[in-house]
Amino acid sequence: MPALPFSRATFPLYLAPMAGVTDKSFRQICKNYGADVLVTEFVSAEGVFRRNQRTREYLDFDDIERPIGVQLFGADAAHMAEAAHQVVDWVAPDFIDLNFGCPVNKVVAKNGGSALLKDCPTLTTVAESVVQAVAPVPVTAKIRIGWDADLINARHVAKILENCGIAALAVHGRTRAQGYSGEADWRVIGEVAQSVAVPVIGNGDLFSAEGVARRRADTKISGAMIGRAAMSAPWVFGQIKHYLMTGELLPPPVLAKRWNVILDHCRAHVREWGVEEPAIRSLRARLMAYSKNLPEAKSLRDKFQHVSTIAGVEEIAHGHIAQSEPVASQRMALAAI
Ligand SMILES: Cc1cc2nc3c(=O)[nH]c(=O)nc-3n(C[C@H](O)[C@H](O)[C@H](O)COP(=O)(O)O)c2cc1C
Repeated sequence: MPALPFSRATFPLYLAPMAGVTDKSFRQICKNYGADVLVTEFVSAEGVFRRNQRTREYLDFDDIERPIGVQLFGADAAHMAEAAHQVVDWVAPDFIDLNFGCPVNKVVAKNGGSALLKDCPTLTTVAESVVQAVAPVPVTAKIRIGWDADLINARHVAKILENCGIAALAVHGRTRAQGYSGEADWRVIGEVAQSVAVPVIGNGDLFSAEGVARRRADTKISGAMIGRAAMSAPWVFGQIKHYLMTGELLPPPVLAKRWNVILDHCRAHVREWGVEEPAIRSLRARLMAYSKNLPEAKSLRDKFQHVSTIAGVEEIAHGHIAQSEPVASQRMALAAI
């Protein structure tokens, strides 16, 4: 197992865990583009016990993805400890990550995810039990800054988790009540990073290399976690790294290269699923996300709604490049004047 790059000196870039998004094929694309640490989509303790096909897919990763963590959620400390133990025996991840941030009703209704931010005694027993159950495998946690505007308790929770033996803490700068609306509160993330000795990984609204550099300079975060920006631009990790090292901003890849990434993603996904049409149909939402920073995004989205084969995506790509490339080069030429 490689050592976990948690230190501020190495400043690791994490791909944020995203259910329905950060599956094996997407994680590997992000890894190729410079993501340092990956985390699986979350799985419940009960899901681990069931060991059905879906759980197997959630827990499946290749060695090239290391260091990788498996994210678990649940509110029953004994179940969580047993599930974490089974996961370590089963797939040997580099770390276990505890989800204390999920805002989804279905999870919160069972006292899981962010619900534990307002139930610190249970959060404590879950964290303690899992840390003990899998030692010496490190356990990390991911939290939001609080439950709602009246309960912003990330510093308190961070202290608890530190005392429980958590190895690193990712903090998403929103409350549960905010969902994904409003802005991430980096002041609170900064306060958490200042107040605990464990490495704090900052998360929320990091969409550019300059944005990450600014947060790094303004706070004591030890690393950055990128979610939605990677969905439309997985190369963002490489851009951030280059900027942090050299101060130079790399332009995004040219259109044809971006399409290569999209097509590689489609092919990897089809290989994983073994059946082309359902695989591509299941990727439509992801294709929509890729279209975000592309010219003629609206017409692309219309086309993606109906695509179900790799040949279909290739056809859309060729048409789009042929249509956009002269415009793009015109724009570049204009910008250079
Ligand atoms: C589609 C989607 C699914 C997500 N699923 C998870 C999850 O399974 N576990 C988790 O801890 N956070 C999950 N998150 C939250 C992200 O990890 C991250 O905290 C959030 O998107 C903020 O980071 P960003 O501004 O870089 O996107 C999810 C977010 C999105 C958009």
